[in-house]
Order: sequence, then structure tokens, then C-alpha cells
Amino acid sequence: MSIWRTKSIEQSIRDTDEPGHRLRRDLNGLDLIVFGIGVIIGTGIFVVTGRQAAENAGPAIVVSFLAAGVVCALAAMCYAEFASTIPVAGSAYTFGYATLGEFIAWIIGWDLILEFTLAASVVSVGWSEYAGDLFGLPTSVPVAGHPVNLGAMAVVLLLGGLGTLGAKLSGRVTAVVVAIKVGIVLFIIAVGAAYVNPANWRPFVPPAAPAPAGGTGAGDSTLTQILLGLDPTSFGLWGVIAAASVVFFSFIGFDIVATTAEETRNPKRDIPVGIFGSLLIVTVLYMAVAAVVTGMRPYPELNVEAPLSDAFRSVDAGWAATLISLGGVIGITTVILVLLMGQSRVAFAMSRDGLLPRALSRTHPRFGTPYVTTLLTTGTVALLAGLVPIGTLEEMVNIGTLFAFVVVSVGVVVLRRTRPDLPRAFRVPWSPVLPLLAALACLWLMMNLTVLTWLRFAVWMALGVAVYLLYGMRRSRLAVLPRQRTGEEDEGVVA
Ligand code: ALA
Repeated sequence: MSIWRTKSIEQSIRDTDEPGHRLRRDLNGLDLIVFGIGVIIGTGIFVVTGRQAAENAGPAIVVSFLAAGVVCALAAMCYAEFASTIPVAGSAYTFGYATLGEFIAWIIGWDLILEFTLAASVVSVGWSEYAGDLFGLPTSVPVAGHPVNLGAMAVVLLLGGLGTLGAKLSGRVTAVVVAIKVGIVLFIIAVGAAYVNPANWRPFVPPAAPAPAGGTGAGDSTLTQILLGLDPTSFGLWGVIAAASVVFFSFIGFDIVATTAEETRNPKRDIPVGIFGSLLIVTVLYMAVAAVVTGMRPYPELNVEAPLSDAFRSVDAGWAATLISLGGVIGITTVILVLLMGQSRVAFAMSRDGLLPRALSRTHPRFGTPYVTTLLTTGTVALLAGLVPIGTLEEMVNIGTLFAFVVVSVGVVVLRRTRPDLPRAFRVPWSPVLPLLAALACLWLMMNLTVLTWLRFAVWMALGVAVYLLYGMRRSRLAVLPRQRTGEEDEGVVA
């Protein structure tokens, strides 16, 4: 029994046709761009920007956004090549299974569960902060002495229900919401520009200062600083880099476009269009929003629950603040929706392969959706968002996502060697240089996250290894099928 066994690509594609475990194919390239923007623009730009400008980068947060965007573009090329070669649900997990073996695939899948579940929770808390701002309500209310974020819970339950009803319905709703969201972001840029006071952009890179004791700034003690023996600082060049590692959160989502590969009509064309289209649009929008907001208000004052609305209130444009909060409340919903969908698709793929119990991958007879994993995901995210204080857990989401990007980038190089014969609608230029550069860039961002984040990540991954050794290793379809069908052709076991 080998933990390095790989699932052949042909087998992966064949599995997508298994009756009762099959997803419906009805998305096109534009749907994917809409999905991409729908999940990318959310709590990151609406909330995290303010905190990072105030604590780590000052007006140079614009540069942090550019840096994070460039790293994402490198990784996006690798995702586009993979997804256009292997159009199967499960994203990085599936790619890993085809190239690096079952154990690594499991590790990525387990990692993606962390990414999507925590991201959905963090984003719904951000949603609730804008909802609170809009309606003048507190974000949490005490229930039996414990603070409960009822708004975050309600929005998760509602959207989880919608996700269960099918991609088409969710896709239409997403399109309307994305139009509103992009409209609000353009509104912030256009109207905000009139209120910019260029004095607020000086100093552009605030000088490095000792990190505040007990502060949550990523500059507090990043892994790089510990390894290089530097004192923890905020601001300065290191602050700008640390902020890039955190605002990376705002770009998460383009990778999820790849998880819908199995539901697209022409994945080889639609996936690269969806990934690059959405990434390019949001990078430009983010840099513009960051420039405008830091120009409207001195950066130390941006660390508030709803910083974009607040910046307008600070210049006495309360009407605009209300409109922005409304846009935030409507716009962030799609992020939660697509994250829930991404998580349920990854768990679906893992369960279809037998690494999680097979019953989880049952699809709904009428809606064609993986309803079991969707409902489980919804319940977990609602509990986390409602009960756990997760204000700064975006760093955990980032480390998990960056780890997956590293594996995918390396996987591109591996698959070029092991399966040069496969048709690739999109090819990363200058392989292996660019894919390896993508992996190093992601690793660099990971290293600029805090040591606490690394420790939490290590614990989660150790738990994953235990689950694999105790369950998946024996129950995997690659292990079970050859045993059941002795005499038949070896089911896709290549190594
Ligand atoms: N990129 C998503 C957001 O900013 C996760 O909310």
C-alpha cells in the first residue's frame, strides 16, 4: 500500500461521470469571471486594508497590494495550466493527486478545508461589521453570557441553503451582486478622489517603529524576522512586506475559479479567461481604493470595523458612507457563497476518492449539487463565525492558501515531466523558471506571516496526517478498488 500512489488523469476525468456523483456542466467563461470577482472582492479590501494601513504599511499599502497581486498572477498561471489540463472538481487537491501522489493530495485537500472554512468565517464576520455599521447595531450580542455574532451566523445559513439549490441559481444571484459590488468600488474611487488630501500620503512609507507590545501587527514577529534575528517592528520596508502577506487575503478566490472546472462547458478556454480576467480587474481596483482611502484619512485612523465607510464619514460625506455600507453588505455575500461552494466541492472530491467517507459525495438527485458536503460546511462555518472571535484569523487563511499555491506551482513542473503528452490549453511560459519563481514568491509571503500563525498551521496539518494514516490510507478508492476487482485492470494506479 503506497502513500505515493497517483490517480491517473484519465481516471480523474472518468470519475466525473459516475452516476449519482456527477456535477452539472452549465458555466461559461463570463460566468467564471463573475464568480471570480464575486469571491475575490470582499472583507479583504473592505476591512483588512484599513487595519494593515494603520498597523504596518501606511499609504504604502498600495505597494503591498501590487506585490500581493504580482505573486497571485504568478500562481494564477500555474492554476490556469493545471485546470485547463485536468478539468475536475477539487482544484489543487485533484492536481496534487495526479502529480505528487495521494499523501500530498490529501495534505493539500486538508489544507484547503482550512482555507475555505476559515475564510468563509472571517468574511462573514466582515459582512456583519458592515451590516452593523449600516443598521447602527452592535456586531455581537450576548447570548447566555457569551458574545454571539448573530448577523454572521444568519448570512451563512441563508447562503448555504442557496448553494444547496444549485450553481445556476447561485450564479444568477452572483451576477447581480457582483454588478452592485463593482459599482460601489468604482463609486469609492470616483467620489473619494475628490476628498483626497495629498498631505495624508506623506510619509508614503512610515519609518520603522518598534512593534506595539501585544499588538497584532504582522510585523510583531514574522518568521523572517525571527530567522534573520531582527527586532519586531511595524512600518518601514518590512511593514510593507508583512502587509503584502496579509492583504494577500483580498486576492483569495481566483484559485476557487479552478474548483468549478468540472461544471464549465469548455474548461480549457473558460478557466484561464476566468482566472486572469478576475485577477487583473481586482488588482487595479484594489490599488485605486487603497490610494484613495489613505489619501482621505490619516492612516493611523483607519483601524476601525468598517474603514471604507468611515473614511467618508470622516470627511462629512455620511450619505456616501451609508451607500458604501449597503454595497458592502450586498457585495460581501457572494464571497461567502462562493467560499462555501469551494469548500463543499473540495470535500466532495476527497470523499468521492474515498479519503473521506463516500456517503459525503452523494449529489442531489434534482439539483445536481453535492448537498451533503454543502450542508456540513454551512453548519461548521456558521458555528465558527458566530461563536469564535476570529477577527485576525485571515493570516491562517493566507498561510493555508499560499501553501496550496506552492504545491500547485511545483506540480506544474512535475506534470510537464511525467505527462508531457497531455494537451494543455494554457501553458505557463518559461517553465520551469516561472513556476518555481511562483513557488518561491508564495513561500516568501508565507515567511512574512507571524510565528503564531505558523504554529497553528502546523497543528492543523499534523491532525490531517493522523486522519490520513487512520482512515484515508486504507479506505482510498485506489486502495479498495483493486482489492475488490481482482482480475480486472489495475484501476488507475500508476505508481
Ligand atoms: N478575497 C476574499 C475577501 O477579500 C476572501 O474577502
